Amino acid sequence: MMADQRIPIDIPNSPTSLTVGRGAITRLAAIFAAEQIPLAQRCVLLVSDANVAAHAARVHQTLLAAGARVSGVELVATETDKSMRAIEVVWNALLEAGASRGALLVAVGGGLIGDVAGFAAASYLRGIDLVQIPTTLLAMVDASIGGKTGINLTLPRGGLGKNLAGAFWQPRVTIADSDTLTTLGQRELRAGLAECVKHAVIAGGALWTQLESDAANLAQAGVVARQAGNGGTQCVESLRALDRLIPAAAQVKAQIVARDPHERSERALLNLGHTFGHAIETIPELKLNHGEAVAIGLVAALRTAVALAMLDPNDEARVKALLVACGLPTSLSQPVSAAEIRRRMGFDKKNDGSTLRLILPRAIGRVEIVSDPSSAAVSAGLVAIGAV
Ligand SMILES: NC(=O)c1ccc[n+]([C@@H]2O[C@H](COP(=O)([O-])OP(=O)(O)OC[C@H]3O[C@@H](n4cnc5c(N)ncnc54)[C@H](O)[C@@H]3O)[C@@H](O)[C@H]2O)c1
Repeated sequence: MMADQRIPIDIPNSPTSLTVGRGAITRLAAIFAAEQIPLAQRCVLLVSDANVAAHAARVHQTLLAAGARVSGVELVATETDKSMRAIEVVWNALLEAGASRGALLVAVGGGLIGDVAGFAAASYLRGIDLVQIPTTLLAMVDASIGGKTGINLTLPRGGLGKNLAGAFWQPRVTIADSDTLTTLGQRELRAGLAECVKHAVIAGGALWTQLESDAANLAQAGVVARQAGNGGTQCVESLRALDRLIPAAAQVKAQIVARDPHERSERALLNLGHTFGHAIETIPELKLNHGEAVAIGLVAALRTAVALAMLDPNDEARVKALLVACGLPTSLSQPVSAAEIRRRMGFDKKNDGSTLRLILPRAIGRVEIVSDPSSAAVSAGLVAIGAV
């Protein structure tokens, strides 16, 4: 058995940490004790969804055995349900459980559950303790780290505005157990690879090299591959590659958020690919999940950077090849109006008034904030992904 790896995240006034390890949720009581998170007699609410019921049940048992008073609530993990109604469901479950300021909320699930549960924890009685137990690759390397929580809003004239209401609320600890990924579908697993590619473009160096060499094995991880009899060596190699990837990719985010927890500067770089990505993710006909939208958004950002003469086309080709090797989409499955995508990009939180702000790569390992990029370059990015 590999030892758990602890990555400290030194956020001023809210120091937190990430513990990564295969089987870590069977060691929850010890991890909580090491992080000085009391459990005896404590009111604990588990927030999860039906797809992670087996993992939530194991967490429930462990916390009960450690003496906590545990209750649970299941949400529906879809973007349309990532709403104020879900927050009310969690608040009501906390009231029902008799939760006071000393209560603890534990989120077990993907980034969506983590975002909703986190916002409910940030706001219930003006803030109670939160622990994140991410169960998707995307949540392990990205969403559960850094304290961003929130819900979607409905935009004027229609469409979902992603994560437009929320709060910064740091978890006491995040615990990433790669064993929980054994029930995750291949498509969701690959979505997590998109955020890993994004981190690798931002950080370059060892993470980039590791991801390039492990991409083929990683693309085969996920339950579909195993059910298709693609197991054996391939499967073991995929799991080993995941165990290498999770701490390395999570570390990139941990370091950036520790330096800029409230996104005053550097943290915005983590939104590489997201301005385009959020705009297409919310177009229902495309049926994209977050990671797939980020992968396509990354392609649009790369081409915009090439059009602005910031990025060498060879680097663009390398990043695109890595996305393909990870089994990710690089263009829209059907034509969408570029003007509509551009309209939706206008609601991005990074914008300064009506001025568009994009995160664009200058090289692998170097990304920058670009204010007011030329509309010709943005159009080139949109054409590159198949917008019309
Ligand atoms: N807070 C942040 O910093 C941040 C960063 C990135 C993304 N996000 C948010 O995270 C969400 C996307 O998160 P996600 O990609 O983890 O997807 P998700 O949370 O939407 O989960 C995807 C699906 O996988 C299921 N699932 C989760 N874990 C499973 C498991 N182990 N086995 C089987 N099924 C499982 C879920 O029930 C859901 O149906 C978006 O709402 C996005 O806005 C937040």
